[in-house]
Amino acid sequence: MKLIVTHSYEESAALSAQMISQVFLEKPEAVMGLATGTTPVSVYKYMVKAQKEGKADFSRAQSINLDEYIGLDPENVNSYMYFMREHLFNHIGILPENIYIPNGIMNPDTEIVRMNRFLDENSLDVQLLSVGTNGHIGFNEPGEVFYDKYHVVELTEETRRSNSRLFSSLDEVPREAITMGAGGIMRAQKIVFLATGSEKLYAMKAILEEGNVTPQIPGTILKFHRDCTIIIDEMLARQITPASGVEVVHC
Ligand code: F6R
Repeated sequence: MKLIVTHSYEESAALSAQMISQVFLEKPEAVMGLATGTTPVSVYKYMVKAQKEGKADFSRAQSINLDEYIGLDPENVNSYMYFMREHLFNHIGILPENIYIPNGIMNPDTEIVRMNRFLDENSLDVQLLSVGTNGHIGFNEPGEVFYDKYHVVELTEETRRSNSRLFSSLDEVPREAITMGAGGIMRAQKIVFLATGSEKLYAMKAILEEGNVTPQIPGTILKFHRDCTIIIDEMLARQITPASGVEVVHC
């Protein structure tokens, strides 16, 4: 595991975008695994900028998203499909048939089969990741096992409360989602993991500091990944003592 400490969130986001762009410079038809939420917003801003300036080309990419809320129409402003179109897809010339996100209003079982088929047939060249306050990755919430494939998950109250900031009320936050399993995430060839904010300290300490891997803090499984780069700003890094196996680089 490699840890890069930057001066700011914007610097972390720009670096993450640069790492993803590099994958596409080497392989224009690469498959990228994508995340939603507040953390990747500036990553997508820098990817769009690189595309517009001709410094990167994502138009031949295939993309697969980690998760989607069950019950939200792709046109709903809080759906992850809407988020991805607004922040990335509408600006990089990616073909609609190369975009894989579970559809929140289709039969979840059918969507799970469709998403798992893509994962079985394609290898993710790079996965962009962040983490929830409780350590979830994708919507793999703390639990007893690491799920392998896409599955339906019941969102914890902590996740619903945390995500309610984007909805008009807590009641509107869906109770279930479809998420890629930890197995799918771990099979990505490269992981670019970005985190910021003191509310992520509990999760980031568990991931970066000495300690065991546990499904109670799902992000800890990244300790086992062979090519995972974690990018955090110094505000967060200051409070973390990385385990001895973590290679630390300061920007
Ligand atoms: C979303 C996802 C989640 C988020 C996490 C952090 O696709 O996979 O694991 O990365 O909930 O969300 P933010 O960035 O909003 O703090």
